[in-house]
Amino acid sequence: MDHAVIEGLGSYLPELVLTNADFEKMVDTSDEWIISRTGIRERRMCPKGQGSSDLGVYAARQAIQDAGISPSEIELILCSTISPDMSFPATSCLIQEKLGIEDCPCFDISAACSGFLYGLETARNFVETGRYKKVLVIASECMSRYLDYTDRSTCVLLGDGAVAAVLGTGRGHHILDVLIAAGGKYWNLLYVPAGGSLQSISFDTVEGHLHSMKMEGSALFRIAISAMADAAKSLLAKNGLTLEDIAFFIPHQANIRIIQGVAKVLSVPMERFFVNIEHTGNMSAASVGVALHEASQKKIIAPGDIVCLVTFGAGLTWAASLLRWKENEV
Ligand code: ACO
Repeated sequence: MDHAVIEGLGSYLPELVLTNADFEKMVDTSDEWIISRTGIRERRMCPKGQGSSDLGVYAARQAIQDAGISPSEIELILCSTISPDMSFPATSCLIQEKLGIEDCPCFDISAACSGFLYGLETARNFVETGRYKKVLVIASECMSRYLDYTDRSTCVLLGDGAVAAVLGTGRGHHILDVLIAAGGKYWNLLYVPAGGSLQSISFDTVEGHLHSMKMEGSALFRIAISAMADAAKSLLAKNGLTLEDIAFFIPHQANIRIIQGVAKVLSVPMERFFVNIEHTGNMSAASVGVALHEASQKKIIAPGDIVCLVTFGAGLTWAASLLRWKENEV
């Protein structure tokens, strides 16, 4: 069996920046509170008239170029998002059309902040079974569209962005393993109440701000730390690796204090955790992949390094992945 690798990576952040000072004008908050309680200074916002498919296309074009292939070689497109352009069709179909790719299956994955790793695991299986040679995995979010800008406890946390990866069996970053998990009993810690089939749009749902994210922040905070630490530990044990084998941990970027909590539970110094939350906020499914791409572009990861990606999000879902970084060509 050929092992799946990431042959190309790309990411995209919209140009529009929302700083903490912008939120000081909207809600009763302060730059000092947001930085000290979350680690976030600024986040990006998708412009009006664009949606997750547009951000995803920018990232996908980069990933396809990085892989050195043509779009027509893509045999399957997956898009992880909880902020689709529309309820239907799937955002992956819209991306396919915008990339000018014909005749390949497309579907979306809904796993919130774990979406990129759920996408990697799905794509990896299709590639390793030989079903598809090249799979395009995108995680794209416009979380700014699902925020209540009168609720200070949630609106300051999230931002927009996208990441894309081309998976194949050629040269690239080897996907050693992926763990995906969920605990549906926690669904009501993080959700958007209305706009789906349970509560359709009405005057009351709009007036009640029921189309925006509702969150039990403190409960999530605690579960996030233990779920991410446990996921990393169990994936390492399954692969006969120890914490010392990991050059870098790339965690979901929800809150710097959550990342510090995971580091503490694992007894790993923060220097081995890659953090970019300061300038992105939490971009749900896109976060961990955008952080991976940023770490790669900054050449923080050395050839042969093993990195551990770890996430948690609405569902609740959680996930971890081990990648061995591409060796230099000889
Ligand atoms: N500015 C000023 N004060 C605020 C703000 C704000 N933006 N937000 C909350 N506060 C206040 C609260 O109202 C509260 O005031 P009170 O004591 O008078 O009631 C006080 O700050 C403390 O509130 P806590 O909720 O205890 O603050 P905490 O330190 O726990 O931080 C936070 C809250 C940042 C939300 C934290 O709990 C957290 O990060 N939780 C996890 C969030 C998360 O990861 N979400 C999931 C990802 S999203 C996805 O999957 C799509």
